[in-house]
Amino acid sequence: MENGAGVRVEFARDARVGLCTTGPKSLPAKYLYDAIGSALFETITHLPDYGLTRADKRLLRQCASTLPPRFQAAKVVVAELGSGSGSKTRFVLEAFSAKRILYYSPIDVSCEALRLCERELSDIAGVRSHVGPYLEGVASLKESRPDNTPLLLLFLGSSIGNFDADERAAFLGQIRFHLRPGDHILVGFDLVKPRDTLLKAYDDPTGVTAAFNRNVLGRVNRELGASFDLASFSHLARYNERHQRVEMHLRSEKAQQVQIPESGATCKLAPGETIWTESSYKFRTQQIRQLMADAGFGHIDEWIDDDWPFMEGLWAVAP
Ligand code: AVJ
Repeated sequence: MENGAGVRVEFARDARVGLCTTGPKSLPAKYLYDAIGSALFETITHLPDYGLTRADKRLLRQCASTLPPRFQAAKVVVAELGSGSGSKTRFVLEAFSAKRILYYSPIDVSCEALRLCERELSDIAGVRSHVGPYLEGVASLKESRPDNTPLLLLFLGSSIGNFDADERAAFLGQIRFHLRPGDHILVGFDLVKPRDTLLKAYDDPTGVTAAFNRNVLGRVNRELGASFDLASFSHLARYNERHQRVEMHLRSEKAQQVQIPESGATCKLAPGETIWTESSYKFRTQQIRQLMADAGFGHIDEWIDDDWPFMEGLWAVAP
């Protein structure tokens, strides 16, 4: 389970396309999660103003016991997209009696996260991790899974909020294509809330989110041989109300040119120019129901947290 050469080649290409352009600059959000980024995100989940993960956990604790009775089969496979450290998955796995889980399959782009997840959860179920893109992982479940064993797919923590609208619809359609009748999907969505609440969640006074954001350039330095001066970038969080998304940017405080050797190109920044590093979409319940129905899923149940507006929804592929 290595982050192989292929990943670096892709990163080098994405950095060239996103940073070494004269137009608006950006990096795909998935590159935020190397070992350091994953650890910083884990810290973010403990920040008083970042209520998202705690809401997700409360809801999972609440809905977990309703999941096992929905499956008639003797055994189920539980898989999870973007498992991270896997700590909230415990509620779901523990709700099934140990004998009923054939195996648990975490799928993540970060092999560091998968290792943590294996360590955290291997006492409850057999773990078969898959490092790589989500869709590749879901596709691989098709071959490894016995015919009579339904799948419960988890996509928690509003990770779905990192996709743009087009990507999101296409992604759910692809997932649906790889599932079989009787399979279920449990998805967490962060809901729209006041601008102030959102800005505090994404720009905390301790600076952990700023460090999480800057680390993506640290990663470009470490893995692609560049020498970005991280201190010359400031962390920016904006709420774009029309698109219902929090945008994270890094703003260059000076004019600078940074060579990215592995990309064979140079990133040129004007003072004040930004690099867009993440979008975190916020949803309305009606939009969520429509989105999932459009992707071909049948609505089963939903749970909403009142403290921090967040929704956990369960959908199934109709038999
Ligand atoms: C893990 C993608 C859900 O968008 O809220 C936290 C990542 N970014 N603070 C989010 C994140 C800045 C997080 N997700």
